[in-house]
Amino acid sequence: MTTLLLHLSDVDEARWAEAYRSALPKVRVVRRGDSFDPAGVDYVFVWKPKADAFDGLAKLKAVLSLGAGVDALLKHPHLPDVPIVRFVDDDLTQRMTDYVVAQVTMHQRQFTRYKRDALARRWVQYYPPAASETRVGIMGLGRLGTDAALNLKALGFTVLGWSRTASHLDGIKTFTGDAIDHFLAETDILVCLLPLTPETTGILNYELFKKLRRGLEGGPVIVNAARGGHQKEADIVRALGDGTLGAASLDVFEVEPLPATSPLWALDNCYVTPHIAAISNIDAGVRYFSQIIRDHELGVPLPNVVDRTRGY
Ligand code: NDP
Ligand code: OXD
Repeated sequence: MTTLLLHLSDVDEARWAEAYRSALPKVRVVRRGDSFDPAGVDYVFVWKPKADAFDGLAKLKAVLSLGAGVDALLKHPHLPDVPIVRFVDDDLTQRMTDYVVAQVTMHQRQFTRYKRDALARRWVQYYPPAASETRVGIMGLGRLGTDAALNLKALGFTVLGWSRTASHLDGIKTFTGDAIDHFLAETDILVCLLPLTPETTGILNYELFKKLRRGLEGGPVIVNAARGGHQKEADIVRALGDGTLGAASLDVFEVEPLPATSPLWALDNCYVTPHIAAISNIDAGVRYFSQIIRDHELGVPLPNVVDRTRGY
């Protein structure tokens, strides 16, 4: 009998197990505390796996990642040499696009400025720019970046994109690798949807912020919904204080949970959310991975396999 082991931290593992049991009646679904032979496990479904997560899984066929991002998983010291399938799904994509559209629209409509005016009881009829006058640059044109870009374009924004290899999206000006400075020079609101790799670590830093276009009243804006490792938080604090940046929306942090001592909490032009931009929904996740297990048991190749040399 096919066996699926769940090894999840910081989420309700029991609920996921129950949902898998309903979706896969012919598969034995086990959790860490259960009695089972590790050598009989075919698939392991993980989120933030502990050091012993893969011990004894000698006949594993694949690691299934609850997360779309696999940067932490790839650093696991005992990660087995089997394919890793990451979460790629319309529900997750829609949730991320919801977050990005909300933040971008808020900054285009000068939310920070009117919030400050309201606090000071100041009535100033400053007219915010139209979407078409606002340039949004998306870093990373993968599953999430492409959907956010197309939806922002549909709302009338002028959208630009930057990726490692060439991307062609209708009505969106795209740039690759070395052309990053040209991309930044045309961007008012920068959205990071990159995977965290050695090349992208610390990319959101003061030097980069200085290269952004200054077309938006108050200064350029960054939105990071990817990973905290992309950003240098000390640089963000400095840039938000000296006007190099007008505002920032941050869903991810160098250390999570964001420590209570972080100065980011107190800045009125910094919008902090606790890594909730796009959650992996149980129904959608179980539907996606159950189909993959069923198909794979019939000989269908695994989809969305992580390229370990690229790091995403
Ligand atoms: P994809 O793998 O589909 O896309 C990654 C994109 O980034 C690709 O366009 C890729 O380029 C580009 N890229 C990678 N490396 C570089 C580089 N060095 N320079 C320029 N571009 C680069 O990822 P997803 O869209 O599915 O997800 C993106 C990230 O979002 C995840 O890795 C995860 O960390 C994060 N995430 C955050 C969530 C949250 O709740 N905050 C929820 C879900 C995901 P190319 O097209 O050439 O390969
Ligand atoms: C993910 C996340 O990578 O939730 O899916 O951050």
